[in-house]
Amino acid sequence: MRTVIKNIGKIYTSEGTNYIKGPHQNSMKIHHNVDIEVINSFITKIEPNIAVENSDIIIDAEGKIALPGIIDCHTHPIYGGDRSHEFIKRMNGISYEDITKQGDGINYTLKRTNTAGDLELKENLINNINEFIKYGITSIEAKSGYSLNKAGELRLLKILNSIKENTPIDMKITYLGGHFLPKGRNKNDFINEVLDTLEIVGREKLADYFDVWVEEMAFDLEDAEKMVKKAVDVGLKIRIHSNELSNAHGALLNEKFPIASIDHFDFFDDEQLHILKEHETNITLLPLTQFILGTENYPNARSIIDNNIPVSLATDYNPGTSPSCNSMLLAQISLMKMNMGINEIINAMTINPAVSLGLGEHTGTIERGKWGDIGIYNVDSLEELFYYIGMNKIKYNIKKGKIIYRSEYED
Ligand code: NIG
Ligand code: FE
Repeated sequence: MRTVIKNIGKIYTSEGTNYIKGPHQNSMKIHHNVDIEVINSFITKIEPNIAVENSDIIIDAEGKIALPGIIDCHTHPIYGGDRSHEFIKRMNGISYEDITKQGDGINYTLKRTNTAGDLELKENLINNINEFIKYGITSIEAKSGYSLNKAGELRLLKILNSIKENTPIDMKITYLGGHFLPKGRNKNDFINEVLDTLEIVGREKLADYFDVWVEEMAFDLEDAEKMVKKAVDVGLKIRIHSNELSNAHGALLNEKFPIASIDHFDFFDDEQLHILKEHETNITLLPLTQFILGTENYPNARSIIDNNIPVSLATDYNPGTSPSCNSMLLAQISLMKMNMGINEIINAMTINPAVSLGLGEHTGTIERGKWGDIGIYNVDSLEELFYYIGMNKIKYNIKKGKIIYRSEYED
């Protein structure tokens, strides 16, 4: 199958298959006035005047810009119900922590997920994936974590696996067994159940990663270590949530275990930065979460980048703290609230998350030999994309050379 994308005004992309970090995170190559040819999923040419004869798909970019497909390396897309009632409560001044203590918050989503049928969960998941696709996203990491009992988590992982084969985007799956201690559960019993579940998840290869939330309101380092150790033993790689609401020192786990990504990291100290730097561990920042929680606790991205640590950005799409998969708003908040440069932000949403998910060989940049994962945006420059706050400027989302989304005002 041959696809030709004609008349691209500018392609903004990095190159290579590794993390772009430190001062390099701000670098970007620009190809001016070129076409792209994709044959059987892979980019074969990036040059002017590619002939359109004998192509199956011809796309006219009309002089607009192209970026690599966005990689969202932290999402929670499978759950029941919504938390709009809680959002309004929070905006009226009740804190996220207090709502959770009252048995609402995550506990509410657990209830709604565990009482939902397979079909309902599957439909919600597909709807969520369709939303990601509308925002230029071509690969995601998808977590379980809203059942939090053995049978329920296995059910979520099986649904995620069944959809993985039938969605146009690439998906890596994470067992978020250590998400939270459900109200009324005994902590030791709960952890033992996670260890049991991990045996099955590892044996049946139901997930690529294990995840635990290290936080005062979730698990401490000692609890997390027990779960992570077992996860590593059964063959899973590790991503962790930590330091979202306070400095819970989650990065100290990286002294004992390899970690693919440590996520949130709104609070930290030099000791943790040093450990992550030493292990070349990616940090995924999730500023939509702070934006939606209504705090000003944005992480100090400058200090992380200046310490030569690779930074990724992700939506954290979830029913509680981030009911948004708007990749453009994510990029804009990173510019406005975290003092990141626009090239740093694009690298943090493309090549770096691709590497953190083990997809750096295939996607994250627009280069010959990589998949044809490309977003065409209805603007003339990258600067302009950042300027239209919260607006969706995607014109075409292209995955492995096929159009998976085209904006409505396209004729
Ligand atoms: O990434 N931090 C933990 N988990 C989610 C929020 C969970 C929820 O409120 O439902 C997050 O922010
Ligand atoms: Fe999360």
